[in-house]
Amino acid sequence: MPKIENLTSIQVLDSRGLPTISTEILLDDGTRSVAMVPSGASTGEKEALELRDGGQAFLGKGVTKAIDNVNDRIKNSLIGENPLDQDHIDEILNNIDGTSDKSNLGANAILSVSIASAKASSKSENLDLHDYFNILLGNKMGKTIDQVIPIPMLNILNGGEHADNNIDIQEFMIIPKGAVNFSQAMQWSSEIYWNLKSILKEKGLSTAVGDEGGFAPNLNTNREALELIARAVDKTNLKLGSDICISLDCAASEFYENGTYHLKGEDRELTSSEFAEYLEGLANDFPIISIEDGMDENDLEGWKLLTKQIGGKCQLVGDDLFVTNPEVLKKGISDEIANSVLIKYNQIGTISETLETISIALNNDYQNIISHRSGETEDSSISDLAVGTGAGQIKTGAPCRSERVAKYNRLYWIDKKNSFSYG
Ligand code: PGA
Ligand code: ZN
Repeated sequence: MPKIENLTSIQVLDSRGLPTISTEILLDDGTRSVAMVPSGASTGEKEALELRDGGQAFLGKGVTKAIDNVNDRIKNSLIGENPLDQDHIDEILNNIDGTSDKSNLGANAILSVSIASAKASSKSENLDLHDYFNILLGNKMGKTIDQVIPIPMLNILNGGEHADNNIDIQEFMIIPKGAVNFSQAMQWSSEIYWNLKSILKEKGLSTAVGDEGGFAPNLNTNREALELIARAVDKTNLKLGSDICISLDCAASEFYENGTYHLKGEDRELTSSEFAEYLEGLANDFPIISIEDGMDENDLEGWKLLTKQIGGKCQLVGDDLFVTNPEVLKKGISDEIANSVLIKYNQIGTISETLETISIALNNDYQNIISHRSGETEDSSISDLAVGTGAGQIKTGAPCRSERVAKYNRLYWIDKKNSFSYG
């Protein structure tokens, strides 16, 4: 069995130019692996804590304390441990942290080690990372999990916290549902993206991009964003509703205040039931097959209403709602809200707990969607996580900006080297 020989953590920059953590792990068989952690902007209240320094440097966003935690306490506790026992490694990390939200060591510090350990283990075992994740999940669930090349959800129009425009809904995504394989899915998506760009240009609208690589023009309404996407699909000679479907991430917690949904861009204020009606109206007029965070994370009644109203025909995804947390997801399942869960491993902070959440979803017929964060790096481990867990869906931005494209490019290689089914 290999043993952990050393851990080194340094500061690197994420796609927003803000500090994040990169951790290298060295095993006693000579294996070295590096992991980098992402960072969110529209975060859920119950997410594990991302430790930031505060103070002047990097506008308070420094991560030197988290890095010191890896280089000191975490390293001292893990040297000599067997990295192949992922549950044990993550348990040690949780034990030295000692809090429920990882606020002592920082979820960013902990996750960097948890991913680095999984990467080194797969390398040491001569496995691809997706195969390794597949084994870990299979062991947890006591059964074989089929690996799958996920259908991408590509966020081609950005609003909310990810852009400086007036659109309230955070993400407008295309789902190349009718594509026969991953390659075709990406080709269609790239063509639609470029056609959307030329449509925006013709109309004199901005073609600058937001944090996840989608365009971020100022528009009059959310509906206008959907109409522009419909035109781009048409211009690509594809059929909306069969070749291409649409997915939204409202990130509704960002515009919910005092019991009301404030659509500032449209100058409207809506109650939960009016906002549910509003979303249903959009889903009636456009082939929207998935809506994420359609209600505020604390608006339980709103979630129940939305789930009852459109949960039968639409994938309703809990992101800020479930925060990849096994206990929070269990509670949501018993409340019968949503029907899918967004999986972001930095919301919970370890690989083991991420796999635990995935297994709970699978056992309860909730769909898993593996996701990036708006602040990313070139680390593409989530592509392996998506394939290895057989999630079937991945959300990792527009076909633009290398930190987004790195994930798609990794999927091209996994697809090429294996004969997994698509979607
Ligand atoms: P975040 O956004 O990474 O800024 O939280 C992504 C999302 O809400 O899905
Ligand atoms: Zn979201």
